[in-house]
Amino acid sequence: MHQKRSQWASNVGFILAAAGSAVGLGNIWKFPGKVGAYGGGAFILCYIIIVALIGFPVMLAELSIGRRTQKNVIGAFRQLDKRFTFVGGIGVLTLFVIMSYYSIVGGWVMKYIWVYASGAHFGAAANPYQTYFADFIAKPVEPLLWGAAFLLLCIYVVVKGVSSGIERVSKVLMPALFLLLLACVIRAVTLPGAKEGLTFMLTIRPESFNGNTLVGALGQAFFSLSVGMGIMVTYGSYVPKDDHLVKSAVSICALDTMVAILAAFAIIPVVFVTLGAEGLGMGGGFAFMALPEVFAGFPGGKLFGLVFFILLFFAALTSAISILESCVAFISEEFHFNRLKSTIVLSVPMTVLSAGYSLSQSDARGIKLPWFDFSQGFTMLPMNAVMEKFTDNLMIPLGALAFCLFVGWVWGTKNAVEEIESEGRYPMVMRRTWSFIVRFLAPLVIAVILYFTLGRGEGLS
Ligand code: PHE
Repeated sequence: MHQKRSQWASNVGFILAAAGSAVGLGNIWKFPGKVGAYGGGAFILCYIIIVALIGFPVMLAELSIGRRTQKNVIGAFRQLDKRFTFVGGIGVLTLFVIMSYYSIVGGWVMKYIWVYASGAHFGAAANPYQTYFADFIAKPVEPLLWGAAFLLLCIYVVVKGVSSGIERVSKVLMPALFLLLLACVIRAVTLPGAKEGLTFMLTIRPESFNGNTLVGALGQAFFSLSVGMGIMVTYGSYVPKDDHLVKSAVSICALDTMVAILAAFAIIPVVFVTLGAEGLGMGGGFAFMALPEVFAGFPGGKLFGLVFFILLFFAALTSAISILESCVAFISEEFHFNRLKSTIVLSVPMTVLSAGYSLSQSDARGIKLPWFDFSQGFTMLPMNAVMEKFTDNLMIPLGALAFCLFVGWVWGTKNAVEEIESEGRYPMVMRRTWSFIVRFLAPLVIAVILYFTLGRGEGLS
């Protein structure tokens, strides 16, 4: 039986869904921290240049593969060149692992919405001398239940389908996220003392332009734009043939970058006012331990905290949906299962991996796995750390590298340009520059990332 392939109902819907994938925890809890770690304005400037110069061209390459083949990421590579089916496999494997921990983290966010909405543990969560968050993730069962609730929400949306599930949800959540974020920015920049944080993030210090800033910005860009793992292949495969791919990719990159910068405007001033410059951090520890203390330290902070965790939830949900969808598209197309069955088939092993991720941070800290990099050799690390290193430091850069080399040298930029131009309908202005970037510049830059992560054992996340 031939099933009609899903499509986005509108161009705006596609852009919001793809931006929903791109805008995630990376924008809200990593970007402001990186601005802090890499010297303020210089990092922001570097980041914008890298998104425009590398991130955007790679995204366009991914979208073009998807739209040309109208297939899931593995099917897409197989169709273009059978020998490179494994490149799609790198993507699906990466996504599968990311989904397993993204849902646990999504569960933490839901828990904190509950903390702020009910007010029940607000004081305890905000008290730096109490280990509220550490105690929570050390519990064996509770984090798993929150994670399962988050996963069920994703499943619900994905099973509903591309346009009536993902697109509809994104059209509500993305504008809502934007408004909530604006509200946070307004509160943050009008606080007495906000000037200090703003001056820090807007001052460009020449000495901050260095290798570390550059590599920090590069790693952030790939993760944040959701490129290098086939999500954009999958989302691109639902784009109608007459859509203007360049315009869509520009909008997605611009929205993602704008949200990251706005998040910096919301977070940096409030941290500077309460904890000072040293208070700025990133990642889960920062969001769930430092920020609750920050939120307790300024007028309106409790409401600010509630709004913050709700917007974090929206950001995480739309990203997780894109990850799950890309895996589901693979299972349902390759094995001819319906969406529900595909999701169930995936969720079971995902849940097992999620449980490992969660339990490796709990009292059962014994779950360790080996990790290798060239500076340290083999080391045994907690499972959660290995999962994050595996995706962020190895698989995402490797996937991005393989995608670029494939489009640049195997399928060929000529074919890709043909697809991007919708067969001559929208002539591409900088097609030579784009081809040069995809063939030479982007692979080179990604190789540099791999040198830092695998060669020198440095983390990007
Ligand atoms: N881009 C998302 C973020 O910034 C993360 C993400 C990674 C989403 C991988 C999908 C796939 O947080």
